[in-house]
Amino acid sequence: MSPLSTSPADRPTNQPADHPGAHTADLVVFGGTGDLSMRKLIPALYHCDRDGRLSHESRIIAMSRGGLTDADFRGKVDAEVRDQVPADDQAGWQRFLGRLHHVSIDVGADAGRDAGGADRAGWGALTRLLAGHEQRDRVFYLASPPRTFGPFCRELDQAGLVTPLSRVVLEKPLGHDLPSAQRINDEVGAIFDEHQIFRIDHYLGKETVQNLLVLRFANAFLEPIWNSLWIDHVQITAAETVGTPGRRGYYDHAGALRDMVQNHLLQLLTLTAMEPPARSDREAVRDEKVKVLQALRPITGTEVDRFTVRGQYVGADGMPGYLDEPASTPPTEASRRVETFTAIRAEVKNWRWAGVPFYLRTGKRMPYRRSEIVVQFKDVPHSIYPGGAPNRLVLRLQPEEGIRLHIMAKEPGAGEVTPKPVPLSLSFGETFTTRVPEAYERLLTDVLAGNPTLFMRRDEVEAAWRWIDPILHAWESRAGLPEPYPAGTTGPAGAHELLGRSGRAWHEEDA
Ligand code: BG6
Repeated sequence: MSPLSTSPADRPTNQPADHPGAHTADLVVFGGTGDLSMRKLIPALYHCDRDGRLSHESRIIAMSRGGLTDADFRGKVDAEVRDQVPADDQAGWQRFLGRLHHVSIDVGADAGRDAGGADRAGWGALTRLLAGHEQRDRVFYLASPPRTFGPFCRELDQAGLVTPLSRVVLEKPLGHDLPSAQRINDEVGAIFDEHQIFRIDHYLGKETVQNLLVLRFANAFLEPIWNSLWIDHVQITAAETVGTPGRRGYYDHAGALRDMVQNHLLQLLTLTAMEPPARSDREAVRDEKVKVLQALRPITGTEVDRFTVRGQYVGADGMPGYLDEPASTPPTEASRRVETFTAIRAEVKNWRWAGVPFYLRTGKRMPYRRSEIVVQFKDVPHSIYPGGAPNRLVLRLQPEEGIRLHIMAKEPGAGEVTPKPVPLSLSFGETFTTRVPEAYERLLTDVLAGNPTLFMRRDEVEAAWRWIDPILHAWESRAGLPEPYPAGTTGPAGAHELLGRSGRAWHEEDA
């Protein structure tokens, strides 16, 4: 028999025993052959399996329009993901492939209107596959367009597939504004209880993001100076070198504000600005995060022009502009108006942060790929040395995860004392030799364990949209287009003026 057709019954006898923390779960992925699933979810699940976090009985069921058999799907995964498998784990890989199943269903364009209505056979096949396994954890992962979330949840309910041990995972974007997010939350909430709903923001699974909480709350020296008395401002940057080839259909209606700021950047802001929670439990952390979002000063009316910048990349240095990226349809008015870059000056109105600007910035086709949080401290009250520079803490999320504290030190040598900024560095890769798990691996482990701490609660998502919506509406009402910036540069002039007005500048150094 081909190894690709392995089923639970013909598992190799040399299979290791279940890990004590292993979960027996049926994981049903809608959009199971899509880009996210093949690039992120399947590799992450393989690593969960390899680390013994899935029991022998667990299954992964991909739902897609592919019309594939189990063997076809296993062959597709084998072809697309095998190069990520270490050479010494070929047996483990075959065991993993044996967990995979495929059910054909319409998760495409019509699914939002009539979720699977045209394809009852698929729902029947899923029901049969899950029958008799009601005692297992059941995870429905919706890696499908947001308009399908409500209809799919209703279908699952009508088919009697939602058990007390079921969870649903929602991929972003969760709506395109506050009303649409509320509608999705209502629809999903009508079937699943809030504790069963896992809204993913993959930035929360990144190692440095979790380390930010440990750094702040497991060390005594930072918290006393983590406030407006000591901190001048904070910068949060997520810069990408990639453009949007082949993504125009999505991106024209998303833009950088919805795609990156409403979720990833605001999550980083909440973790930087939140008060110390009383406990590390699931609700205490989220309670504190939501208070930060509620304390964000709304940016409305003419302030939108002063405190926000939007840009769109144009062709340069052999790189295409946004409008010239390969796409299945020609650019429209929406393409011309959409921002591929944004910078915002935000403020958290509370005792700790009053007067401290939080600058947010994200863009496509920038000169480097870098996500980081930069905490810029104030200068010493009175300097006795010439040429000092204020301290700065840089938390790098990617590409190399690490923490750097820039301090002043004396340059060795006789004669005049010359202070010099030098970094104290912690590179996770060099300090910890264990493999750093991918964000999705960590998040899927938490879903399987039923731990929602790193997932967004309904009130968090809605508070984030409440702050974003006025900016979106103001941009939509403006006649002007986003400021152009050449591909491969750090964004439009307006982004530099946003900080330059107060004598500040974006952190552009390598660390
Ligand atoms: C996704 C956005 O959520 O995050 C993409 O939709 C973006 O546009 C991606 O490229 C960035 O993720 P990462 O982990 O590469 O920073």
